[in-house]
Amino acid sequence: MSTSLSQRPPIVTHASLPMVPTMARLIDRVQETSNTFTCRLEFVDPEAAARFRFYPGQFNMVYLFGVGEAAISISSDPDDLSSIQHTIRHVGSVTFAVSRLEVGDVLGIRGPFGSNWPLEACRGRDVLLVAGGIGIAPLRPAIYQILKHREQYGRLILLYGVRSPKDMIYREEVEAWSKRRDFQVMCTVDYPDPQWIGPVGVVTSLMRRVRLDSARTSVLVCGPRVMNREAAHSFLSHHVPEEHIFVSLERNMRCGIGQCGHCQYGPKFVCKDGPVFSYDSVRTMFSKEEV
Ligand SMILES: Cc1cc2nc3c(=O)[nH]c(=O)nc-3n(C[C@H](O)[C@H](O)[C@H](O)COP(=O)(O)OP(=O)(O)OC[C@H]3O[C@@H](n4cnc5c(N)ncnc54)[C@H](O)[C@@H]3O)c2cc1C
Ligand code: FES
Repeated sequence: MSTSLSQRPPIVTHASLPMVPTMARLIDRVQETSNTFTCRLEFVDPEAAARFRFYPGQFNMVYLFGVGEAAISISSDPDDLSSIQHTIRHVGSVTFAVSRLEVGDVLGIRGPFGSNWPLEACRGRDVLLVAGGIGIAPLRPAIYQILKHREQYGRLILLYGVRSPKDMIYREEVEAWSKRRDFQVMCTVDYPDPQWIGPVGVVTSLMRRVRLDSARTSVLVCGPRVMNREAAHSFLSHHVPEEHIFVSLERNMRCGIGQCGHCQYGPKFVCKDGPVFSYDSVRTMFSKEEV
């Protein structure tokens, strides 16, 4: 049986008008890599700020006037609502336009949307997070929450793969996490530079280095499509129960609220039923090349 992912806050930017964006101001911007940055946003209207809350794994639709909208995960701490953060890689028109904004500029936000990582169901269990590239962004709020309630979870492990050392995002945070005795962090790169002394290879190759207690492990996966599939199949072959493997999926999105059909994934909508799915709920589609 699927673990419930239904726990989620209501759409709070405009509860009765979910297609209307709420204005937010850019208050800070950190360049993570050559093409990825983290922006910190504050709602212009204090009432909107007071209403907004989210669960780890959820996303907002980020709206740039005259350009368009893109789905972007919320990457900040759900307990710190003084601002919200989005980590964005510029790949197309909206993300590029956001990358050109300056502190003080205003954009639109709709959300939060979608399902969340099932941190309640992970309580008392070992938690293994697998992140590929910018896939660490939606996992970061989950890491904050688990570290805050560390005693409620078993082992905590992060496997993080990036293309090259300079593509690692949240570098200082990842280093700080790796120094903790209660958090096992392993990073790998596809293309090492001369300074890199860590593992080389795809993130799924790190699984060989982890001793799993499969029956008591919950796995949270977010990365490129191929990585998601390989990771899920690898954990299945290690006998992790399929209802304890969770994957965050990406699809082209428009409305974010299950109305337009753009994000259809088999019989499901990624915006409404996902983006976080338990493996058993998407098993049929997951084994196919293209759905
Ligand atoms: C739930 C969810 C969460 C997400 N979270 C994040 C996040 O935290 N951070 C993040 O950076 N992204 C995230 N994304 C991905 C982001 O929404 C997409 O990359 C989005 O398409 C970016 O919008 P854009 O207008 O900048 O790019 P688009 O213009 O939509 O382009 C996106 C990609 O399509 C290609 N492309 C565009 N136009 C064409 C064309 N005509 N022909 C061929 N290829 C084309 C581009 O080269 C690029 O690779 C998330 C997506 C989902 C569904
Ligand atoms: S984005 Fe419109 S149905 Fe999902």
